[in-house]
Amino acid sequence: MAKVIIFGLADFASLAHYYLSTDSEHEVIGFSVSDEYMPQGDPVFEGLPVVPFSQVAEHWPSSEFSFFAPMAPRKMSTLREKVYDQIVALGYDLISYVSSKATSFGNVRIGRNCFILEDNTIQPFVQIGDNVVLWSGNHIGHHSTIGDHTFFTSHVVLSGHCVVERNCFFGVNSTIRDGLTIAQGTFVAMASSVMRSTEAWGVYKGNPAEKAKISSMDLRS
Ligand SMILES: CC(C)(COP(=O)(O)OP(=O)(O)OC[C@H]1O[C@@H](n2cnc3c(N)ncnc32)[C@H](O)[C@@H]1OP(=O)(O)O)[C@@H](O)C(=O)NCCC(=O)NCCS
Repeated sequence: MAKVIIFGLADFASLAHYYLSTDSEHEVIGFSVSDEYMPQGDPVFEGLPVVPFSQVAEHWPSSEFSFFAPMAPRKMSTLREKVYDQIVALGYDLISYVSSKATSFGNVRIGRNCFILEDNTIQPFVQIGDNVVLWSGNHIGHHSTIGDHTFFTSHVVLSGHCVVERNCFFGVNSTIRDGLTIAQGTFVAMASSVMRSTEAWGVYKGNPAEKAKISSMDLRS
């Protein structure tokens, strides 16, 4: 059981508070946010205190407290990655949350700061890196590996023996054929069907999925 600080003050932080409070052994003790997003006065979020990130180590030291930083995937999760690295640099441990309503197995490896919601099926021999989000209802096929800072939305089918590199994004209802390598920074559009391995920072859409001209880092989201 850890005493946990949640990073952020938006929807993801609110949901993280709800899931940890109702479905984990951890105790959420407060929130922290980058100084520029710090509300005025003595702010409270979900009934708990909020501390600016520049003062968090002084207020809640890493020797006693852990962090959880589930955030939205803007800019191919490079912003989430930066916050994750800053928390690690301060010496904090980061917890992962795996819903009691997800299905997993004893030989599945899950890294730090992962946020894995209800109805995910994670088959045997899967390896999941750090700072990975699996929103609700995905199928992660056996012997697949998922790199750090990757984001699955909902109802994605990742078939078996796939390698997903870092900073990828999978839109709702997308499908990946077995044995493919999904290169770093790949964006798979919603309802797309990926039949061949992808190129780094590519955007793939349609069935069969075709590579768009735009780089995934140039998407508006
Ligand atoms: C790929 C994506 C980012 C494009 O969004 P956009 O930049 O607003 O693009 P537009 O809607 O203007 O569409 C541009 C073109 O791509 C096509 N397109 C967009 N999404 C597509 C998809 N999923 N499959 C096939 N074609 C698609 C459009 O039909 C349009 O084609 P056209 O130029 O021939 O008319 C978006 O469709 C997407 O998939 N987002 C992810 C949504 C998601 O999963 N959200 C999760 C929420 S939890």
